[in-house]
Amino acid sequence: MKHTDIKDIFTKKELIGTDVTVCGWVRTARDSKNVAFLALNDGTTLEHLQIVIDKNGSCALPEDAAKLGTSLKIIGTVVANENHGTPEVNAKEITVLGVCPPDYPLQKKFQKLETLREIPHIRVRTNTFNAVFRVRSVMAAAIHRFFQDRGFVYMHTPLITGSDCEGAGEMFKVTTIGYSDKYKSAEEYYADDFFGKKAGLSVSGQLEGEVAAMAFGKIYTFGPSFRAEKSNTLRHVAEFWHIEPEIAFCELPDLIEFAEEMIKYIIRDFMEKCPAELKFFEERFEKGLTEKLLNVVNNDFAVVDYTDAIEMLKKADVKFEYPVEWGCDLQSEHERYITEKIYNKPVFLINYPKDIKSFYMKQNPDGKTVAATDLLVPGVGEIIGGSEREADLTKLLNAMKEKGMSTDDYKDYLDLRKYGTVPHAGFGLGFERIIMYCTGMQNIRDVIFYPRTVGNIR
Ligand code: 4AD
Repeated sequence: MKHTDIKDIFTKKELIGTDVTVCGWVRTARDSKNVAFLALNDGTTLEHLQIVIDKNGSCALPEDAAKLGTSLKIIGTVVANENHGTPEVNAKEITVLGVCPPDYPLQKKFQKLETLREIPHIRVRTNTFNAVFRVRSVMAAAIHRFFQDRGFVYMHTPLITGSDCEGAGEMFKVTTIGYSDKYKSAEEYYADDFFGKKAGLSVSGQLEGEVAAMAFGKIYTFGPSFRAEKSNTLRHVAEFWHIEPEIAFCELPDLIEFAEEMIKYIIRDFMEKCPAELKFFEERFEKGLTEKLLNVVNNDFAVVDYTDAIEMLKKADVKFEYPVEWGCDLQSEHERYITEKIYNKPVFLINYPKDIKSFYMKQNPDGKTVAATDLLVPGVGEIIGGSEREADLTKLLNAMKEKGMSTDDYKDYLDLRKYGTVPHAGFGLGFERIIMYCTGMQNIRDVIFYPRTVGNIR
């Protein structure tokens, strides 16, 4: 069906005075004796196109054409509105493509986000989700461009895996058979299953990413990761999109510099390519959003040692729900205090206690901490988790032993330290979390198409 995108009607001045065919869905309608106005949206822009129907002219307004949600094809002339100059279309011919009955759920102008969460197949037609998912698409392209321009190779790491990268036991099982008492042991059951051993959905592509970095030097992944943790919070989903660069010949300070460059690039690109969406989010969801993002791109991020952060938290004049001691895993309330109250900007926390971090992180000379970093941002908390990797085979084996891990499952990974090991580092950026930060959306369920959370799947 040949037609012009509504976005082009607003941006291509040469269309004024010409006849066009536009298609879309009716967002609002005003009908009077002599003239009717329809606001038409085809999803290509946040703006609705005004269709003017002169009822005394030759264009008839078909029955049902003014119903919310109805899809139309309209032939008409593009004109500049007499009052404000915005292009609109004087209709010559209107065809109803699909009628929309009155039980269409989007009858009210504003609906609560939680109500809309119940209808993911319809909520994408609202202005809010039009803006969210366009921004998501623009940011995905920016991320690929950022890495590709810097010579990184895009690797597709497996989604079904035989090893649990984080060692945290949060994997979804992948199986084709249920366990039954015909099996005498778990081993016997797994041996009978599809892969002949225990398998799950990957929580991270990092371990395979490291394999690829030892061949290409610089790689990144961009795909879904799965976590079976039962955290019913505003920032956890069971299936999220994960960007994971892995860089050879790279130490922690290099990694931090690189992560800051990447975050600034993504934000700058979003501000440049999505001004209408940014304005929309500023007006509807977060006052001061533009200024916040400008501050991020124009200033250095803070880098703070975990040990110093603990001291600051102990001196804080607020009562935390979870007490703070050196060695504790920081809770969201602590992370937010550091990034929102103390620094009011993004903060790289570095050098965490080794006992609360994964086995693969580079052990610092102090024997107590590892060269890890999390990037914390105001409003969202952690958006990046990463580290320099332990490149020394003996130290890595010791760490695995200390954590009670079986080395048999990690033979390939250990080979990387055997055959030409190099200092290397990488991190994981949660795609939904950076979208939340840039749009001001408070709930992760509102920045992913079909959110999967505990007890919720469609
Ligand atoms: O800190 P995480 O667990 O780190 C890793 O997975 C490393 N293997 C990454 C690496 O070094 N290559 O996760 C990285 C990021 C988090 O900072 C967060 O932004 C996001 O992934 N994330 C989640 N996002 C949404 N829902 C969840 N359940 C998430 N879990 C982690």
